[in-house]
Amino acid sequence: MTTTMLKPIFKEFIEKIRPYEPGKPIKEVERELGLRRVVKLASNENPLGPSRKAVRAMRHALREAHLYPESTCFYLVKRISEELGVAENQILVGNGSNEIIEILMRGFVSEGDQVISSETSFLVYPILTQVMGAEYIAVPMKDFRYDLEGIFAAITEKTKMIFIANPNNPTGTYVKAREVEDFIAKVPKHILICFDEAYVDFVDAADFPHMLFHAKTEKPNIVLLRTFSKSYGLAGLRVGYAVAAGEIIRYLHKVRQPFNVNSLAQAGAAAALEDRFFLWRTRLLVRSGRKYLYKRLAKLGLRAIPSQANFILVDTGYAADEVFEALLRKGLIVRSMKAYGLSTFIRVTIGRRGENALFYRLLKQFLKEKQK
Ligand SMILES: Cc1ncc(COP(=O)(O)O)c(C=O)c1O
Repeated sequence: MTTTMLKPIFKEFIEKIRPYEPGKPIKEVERELGLRRVVKLASNENPLGPSRKAVRAMRHALREAHLYPESTCFYLVKRISEELGVAENQILVGNGSNEIIEILMRGFVSEGDQVISSETSFLVYPILTQVMGAEYIAVPMKDFRYDLEGIFAAITEKTKMIFIANPNNPTGTYVKAREVEDFIAKVPKHILICFDEAYVDFVDAADFPHMLFHAKTEKPNIVLLRTFSKSYGLAGLRVGYAVAAGEIIRYLHKVRQPFNVNSLAQAGAAAALEDRFFLWRTRLLVRSGRKYLYKRLAKLGLRAIPSQANFILVDTGYAADEVFEALLRKGLIVRSMKAYGLSTFIRVTIGRRGENALFYRLLKQFLKEKQK
């Protein structure tokens, strides 16, 4: 059968979607360029690898791989509930927080509705909005930060959800507690405001909002998203969760697949919560790496956007794809920001000390060659 024959069943709004382009995988670069050692600072992963406790728990869980996982993620939910001091019926676990975003969309957004967020934010929001046949409004940023007043002004009768990545990916910037308080006080209560806190563990700003408090106290239209992919080093397992009012979680359970989180992921994530030393080491590494890179980037005379996350957005002054390619050939994967409309910016994930130093050295070399 040809695609032309199938044409009538293809949805036009899905055909128009530009697929998400993930960071280039290490193995692919090694294969393509014949390199032996490739460093990836492109997907905001944890450079320490997974916690040993998580690995041990998964090894143990393997023995029961013939059984379906617990559909409700009973033990993991219990552990998250204890950790955050939130009732168990206020937690929904998903196959990465990406899946939770999809579950939210399927639950609350229909064709013709609107979803609002910011430009230069997480590209999964527009993609999943488009999958629903809904309209995505990307409000311009102000100095690389979410413009909450602009977002409020963009609300219409069709608005169902607002996504706020805080800190934001790919800018690393954040919205402050005061701004958020004003915003949630005036947004109509039938619109869900989703705070995506994938990078919250790397924040050290004192005026960062305590959204967990709002979600805990069952504010009816607030949803909080967190993930095990970043600070817990478990991106490959795909575990994320939502915290929201019990009424919302009960509704979302109807939307999800019965076994959406596999048994190894459940065991690994629960054990990772026990490994406080790992989390401490991760935070320390990110904070010191961030400091180091800001100093080095300033030395190179480059503009680096102040970040509260485990990555930095940098204006290299040269075509982003060219910088990306040049570093790639030397075995370092970063992310070109061209797809985000930032034609001279790259995003670099904070790595281990040696990896950060390698990034600095290669970028310096690139700039030197360009300035010859
Ligand atoms: C803002 C934001 N939200 C969510 C995610 C997805 O996380 P997960 O791996 O839990 O799907 C990412 C990952 O890059 C992200 O940057």
